Order: sequence, then C-alpha cells, then structure tokens
Amino acid sequence: MRAIVLNSTGEPDELRLTDLPRPRPEAGQLLLRAQAIGVSYAETQIRAGTLPFPLPLPAVIGAEVAGEVVEVGEGVDETLIGGTMVGVTGGLGAYAEYVALPAAMAFPVPDGLAPEHALAGAAPGALALALLQKAALNGAETVLVEAGTSSVGSYLVRHAKEFGAGHVIATAGSAAKRERAAALGADTVLDHGTPGWPDALPDVDVVFESIGGAPAGQVLGHLTPGTGRMLYYGLLSGEPAAVTAADLMTRGVTVTACSGPAWAGQVFGTHYPQMLARLAEGRSEAYLGRTLPLDRAADAHRLLESRELTGRVLLTP
Ligand SMILES: NC(=O)c1ccc[n+]([C@@H]2O[C@H](COP(=O)([O-])OP(=O)(O)OC[C@H]3O[C@@H](n4cnc5c(N)ncnc54)[C@H](OP(=O)(O)O)[C@@H]3O)[C@@H](O)[C@H]2O)c1
Repeated sequence: MRAIVLNSTGEPDELRLTDLPRPRPEAGQLLLRAQAIGVSYAETQIRAGTLPFPLPLPAVIGAEVAGEVVEVGEGVDETLIGGTMVGVTGGLGAYAEYVALPAAMAFPVPDGLAPEHALAGAAPGALALALLQKAALNGAETVLVEAGTSSVGSYLVRHAKEFGAGHVIATAGSAAKRERAAALGADTVLDHGTPGWPDALPDVDVVFESIGGAPAGQVLGHLTPGTGRMLYYGLLSGEPAAVTAADLMTRGVTVTACSGPAWAGQVFGTHYPQMLARLAEGRSEAYLGRTLPLDRAADAHRLLESRELTGRVLLTP
C-alpha cells in the first residue's frame, strides 16, 4: 500500500511516499480502507520534532481516519465489514491507504453524513464539547477562546453560548480570521499577533488556553480572582504555558490540564459520538479547508504551517 513515512524529524520534505505492506488488524482492531485522513497542526510539530511525543522512527504519522472497514481483528464484530467508520488510531499510522485502529475508538459514520465531513468535525468538535462541559459555565460568564478560528477554537466559539457563556472573546492572527471568529459567534475579537495583546482583556472567567508560552501567563493575570479557571489544552506556540504556582496563589484561580490518556478516553468515549450525532443532525457543521492527495502530505503540512487557512486540511489516498 502507499503510505507517508517519516524517517527523521525535520522539514515537511521528510514526509516521503513509500510502499509498505498492508497492516493486519490485531485483536480488538479493525482495518479501514482510508477515504479521508486528518492532518493537524500538532502533527506538523511532531514531524518537526518540537512536540514531546514518543516517535519510534521510521513512522507513519497521523491519527484521524475515515473509511470502509475491510477486515477485523480477533474479538471484533465481523458484521462491521463493509460499513463506513471514522475514528482515531490513538497515535500513529493514519497517513496511509489502509489504517488499523482500535475498534473502541471507531464509530459508524451516520447515514447522510459524508465521511470527510465526519472526519473533519468529529475530533476537534468532540474536544470542544468536552472543554465546554468541563468549564461548567454559569450562564453569564465571560470566556476567552485563544486561536478562535483553529479547528478546536471554531467549535468552542460556535457552541460557547449553548454551554452557558455570556460573553465570548476570541483571538485570531489575521483580519480575515477575526471576521470569521465574529461570524462564528464571538462578541469581541482580538489580534493575538500583537505583542502584549492580553493587556486588552477585561476580567475573564474561563480561558480555553491553546497557544501557551508567555501570553498564557499574561492571560492568567486577567482571570477573575477567586473563581477564574484556565482550561489548558494546547501549545500551538510550542512553548508550555508560562504559569507558576505563585501566580495561581496570588489570584486564587485554577488551571486544569485537559490532556493525557484519561482525558482522551473521555473525549473519544463520550464526546466523539455526540459530535457525530450533532454533525448528522445539523446541530453543528464540518469546516473543510483543503483536501489534497496522500502523496502531497508535505504540502498539507506547509499549508498548516503557513497559518493562511481556516478549516481542516485532509488527505485522500
Ligand atoms: N488536549 C487535547 O486533548 C488536544 C487534542 C487535540 C489537539 N490539541 C491541541 O489543540 C491545539 C489546537 O489544535 P487545532 O487542531 O485546533 O489547531 P489548528 O486548527 O491547526 O489551528 C492552528 C491555528 O492556530 C493559530 N495559532 C495561534 N498561535 C499560533 C502559533 N504560535 N503557532 C501556530 N499557530 C498558531 C493559527 O491561526 P492564526 O492565523 O489565527 O494565528 C493557526 O492557523 C493544538 O495545540 C493541539 O496540539 C489538544
């Protein structure tokens, strides 16, 4: 089969089209003939070697896939064969024509929903739903969504009020993206490309922290004393959030790290199927940016790194 192999971390050109044996599903796994493969910003950081991630090289990177079930491993329901499913591998292996993934992390694509739409919306939407639920908003609170037109940020902005936000502040790095954030439902939009941008913030009850680095520390200084909470789920800048225990003590606020295996299990077990149902019923929608053929995986990474696009970047074999 055709697959994209990373032999050593570095520039996008390190992603090379390679002929590999078709994987066999292990016990508890199923094998999909891929129809749509997700490409995420985190994968550009994994490829570049800037994100702490266990990466046994050479590796086929990629975690999200939708496609037809062609084989199942021991213990998996054989009647799934022939159906169309979408899911995550739990780490690697998705930039390929055939992808093995745990059956527990794959769900049938609902009738009427295109596999590429299911793929584009399910993972970032599920993460947004999980974060919004975790925030336990009280109906009048002010929230800050950093990178409010990123894949996850778009759904946070779009659904924040449904989950009890009173006022939604979003950030984005270009005029076009700031317009988009407003169209998604943000009441106030700031430019996170302006140094010291957190200075413009009012008191914020909840921040969905995805950029990290020094601005995260500045944002923390605007959390409502006593009740403010930071839900820390990403580090788009590649830098961990510069937040100290002393900062938390001074303001009496909390930081919750929304990451790790237990968190991922909850997101995929609970919120992923909920998001698929929303997409199928029109209670949310997929944001597609660009679809490229599998052999242009390097271009897909360049596109994400350019930060020009909004919407998901997908690969098709
Ligand atoms: N904790 C979890 O369970 C979990 C799961 C999946 C993903 N994540 C994390 O969630 C974060 C968002 O992921 P995503 O897939 O939504 O991202 P994405 O769709 O690829 O969004 C990337 C956008 O973020 C903005 N951005 C802001 N600061 C940036 C910086 N310093 N470098 C690069 N881009 C920056 C850029 O837009 P502008 O032009 O507006 O700057 C860029 O286009 C990532 O850090 C990812 O690793 C966490």
